[in-house]
Amino acid sequence: MPKPLAALVLAAGRGTRMKSALPKVLHQAGGRSLLAHVLAAVRGAGIALGDIAVVAGYGLDQIRAALAELESGGLQIILQEPQLGTGHAVLAAQSWWQNYDHLLVVHGDMPLLSSATITSLAAAAAAKPHPACVLATAEPREPRAYGRILRNANHPERVVGIVEDGVATPVQRKIRELNAGFYCFATAPLAAALARLRTNNPHGEYYLTDTIALLAAGRSLVTSVALADDRECLGVNDRVELAQLDRDFRRRKAEALMRAGVTIQFPDAVVIDPDVEVGQDTVLESGVQLLGSTRIGANCRIRSYSILEDCTVADGVLIRSHCVLEKSRIDAAAQLGPFTRLREGAHIGEAAHLGNFVEVKKSRLGRASKANHLAYLGDATIGAGVNIGAGTITCNYDGSAKHPTTIADAAFIGSNATLVAPLEIGPGSYIAAGSVITDPVPADTLALGRARQTLKPGWPSKRRQKRD
Ligand code: UD1
Ligand code: CA
Repeated sequence: MPKPLAALVLAAGRGTRMKSALPKVLHQAGGRSLLAHVLAAVRGAGIALGDIAVVAGYGLDQIRAALAELESGGLQIILQEPQLGTGHAVLAAQSWWQNYDHLLVVHGDMPLLSSATITSLAAAAAAKPHPACVLATAEPREPRAYGRILRNANHPERVVGIVEDGVATPVQRKIRELNAGFYCFATAPLAAALARLRTNNPHGEYYLTDTIALLAAGRSLVTSVALADDRECLGVNDRVELAQLDRDFRRRKAEALMRAGVTIQFPDAVVIDPDVEVGQDTVLESGVQLLGSTRIGANCRIRSYSILEDCTVADGVLIRSHCVLEKSRIDAAAQLGPFTRLREGAHIGEAAHLGNFVEVKKSRLGRASKANHLAYLGDATIGAGVNIGAGTITCNYDGSAKHPTTIADAAFIGSNATLVAPLEIGPGSYIAAGSVITDPVPADTLALGRARQTLKPGWPSKRRQKRD
């Protein structure tokens, strides 16, 4: 028994006008590659990974790397080499799709494609009168150099051909109905039509669009569905169009958040990735970037030019300007910045404060602890109510290995302390300012690790006399 429906994403072309070493479909808009958007739409229509293939050629290795996770989930990557046109791309995958009844074909460079369009193409193809192909069409206001749809004069519901922009006659060029580049074919007639494709066109390519006239001439039925939004078939050809699309995606995300109760001061000046979540009454100031899997709670304020990537932020947190935070967790009511840097694995406790030029890596800072100025805390476990003085450094690296520092509750670390790890500092202890601490400090103990000051009265004036 053949399986019902497969989806083929065409992504072998180079995208010459991008002027890039990266294949076009891997360029990003709205925080995802163009190809990832298309694959998300296909999967959103309920098509399983095991029934999806991507035709790749230019930049195959890069595409394979980008899709590694999906490939191990069952997605097929099929090589088309050389790239001799869209029809040739579908032919290259024939041994894969011939075990299905229907084949959906979409272009990998059209990231606005919706799951609803895919669903309606597949539904129309599977329903009576069982057309050999259903294709999506659009009638945008502005001219686009797309294939024009030709219809039977007596039976206008029948599509009889697609004429490419480059070879259309002046009369054909006036046709406003365009080929979107999304199709659902019955595979048996598709295979027969592909076998008859020729390359008699200016580019010497096998055009998938030529299968339509071949099907119609063979009395197969070709019908169409109109796109609900003609932007769905907006492709990306160069970096100017890429930037416009990126702006659209970002704007859409910002609007969705605003409608859900987030205040965004300058919606065009924030960059928020698609999977980011933000709670109610949180305020995002201009220039904020929220990336990856970042989740922000309610009643937070993220001030200008802070960048958060893969961070989890609880409610009521204040992040002042110019913080750079990645793969970290920040508990409720904490305050950070300006200029705080959190690296992978920082966990900042409830109501803790971190100030300017404080860098934290793989460290836990307990409830209400503070490091307000100029510090480096790495591989440290710091309890509650601890004060870290300005300039404190955990010396966690000896040139070959990393070592831990533990600072217990209510300890007070004086300014400019050098804490040589591995090291443990007991609860309530004091470290004198400027100390170099190399040995464990028990509970409730003052540790001094610095040279004692000496005074030489009269020394400066004697020196001045000698000099004169
Ligand atoms: C194609 C259609 C045109 C339609 C337009 C919509 C053809 C001949 N024309 O034109 O009717 O209006 O899309 O955008 O199909 N690709 C491959 N292998 C190849 C060539 C292309 O995988 O050998 C891929 C490209 O990576 C791209 C997609 O197919 O994702 C479309 O190819 P492109 O060359 O951009 O076709 P258009 O000229 O835009
Ligand atoms: Ca194109």
